[in-house]
Amino acid sequence: MTAKLNVNIDHVATVRQARKTIEPSIISAAMICEQAGADGITVHIRQDRRHIQDKDILLLREVITTYLNVEMATIEEMLKIAVETKPDAVSLVPENPYEITTEGGLNVLGNIENVQMAVNRLREVGIFASIFIDPDERQIEAAHKIGAQQVELCTAEYAELTLSSRAAHGEGLEKANAEFERIKRAGVFAKSLGLKVAAGHGLTRRNVGALARIPEIEEFNIGHSIISRSIFVGLENAVREMIAAIKNSPVSN
Ligand code: PXP
Repeated sequence: MTAKLNVNIDHVATVRQARKTIEPSIISAAMICEQAGADGITVHIRQDRRHIQDKDILLLREVITTYLNVEMATIEEMLKIAVETKPDAVSLVPENPYEITTEGGLNVLGNIENVQMAVNRLREVGIFASIFIDPDERQIEAAHKIGAQQVELCTAEYAELTLSSRAAHGEGLEKANAEFERIKRAGVFAKSLGLKVAAGHGLTRRNVGALARIPEIEEFNIGHSIISRSIFVGLENAVREMIAAIKNSPVSN
């Protein structure tokens, strides 16, 4: 089975917020992604609202016909938004106001009561509860214990190791292979506990193929690379290219 692709459209909102204006429309972006074959749309509502705004979630909830996944911190302000707008899924992520992007997975073990409370709040209203997590068995076990339904394995380290030709040979290749094996083992372990397995962060059409061959990974959340590529080839083509890369097949255009 081919893994699904949720396109993270945060950076369409980043461009809009650069001028605090109305374009580019994230609603149009979501529609184009769906038409291009995306299985869902992911957005991250951050405490500083640097890209996605509260109103975006409301509008996206109304128009998305595939799957809406909202990433958020485990705080009351965000959980309230989730409960009120009811996305299909919420991915709980760590958040630090000074980070450029999410830095690694949520430390479930170190914040067990808080994460448990967040998972309970989501599940009570029927929202699918996912936790963004490092590919670490102890963290996965903790996520399972507190009732998460999915873990999204953080691929940031793998993405960094495969970003350039560093991974082509020698020590770079060994490190990339070791990280790949760590993600694979984590996926197998999570699945053995009955968790659904997703993956994401920093993935591109060049490095997603290997991960897509791990059968336990059922879903990818990919944003920056698709939106970057869309500047040159258009959003529809950029989404199609990523879907082709996940299917490990050449792009047909
Ligand atoms: N998954 C999670 C939990 C994230 O926080 C992000 C970034 O918002 C992504 C996936 C997508 O990462 P990228 O934009 O690097 O593809």
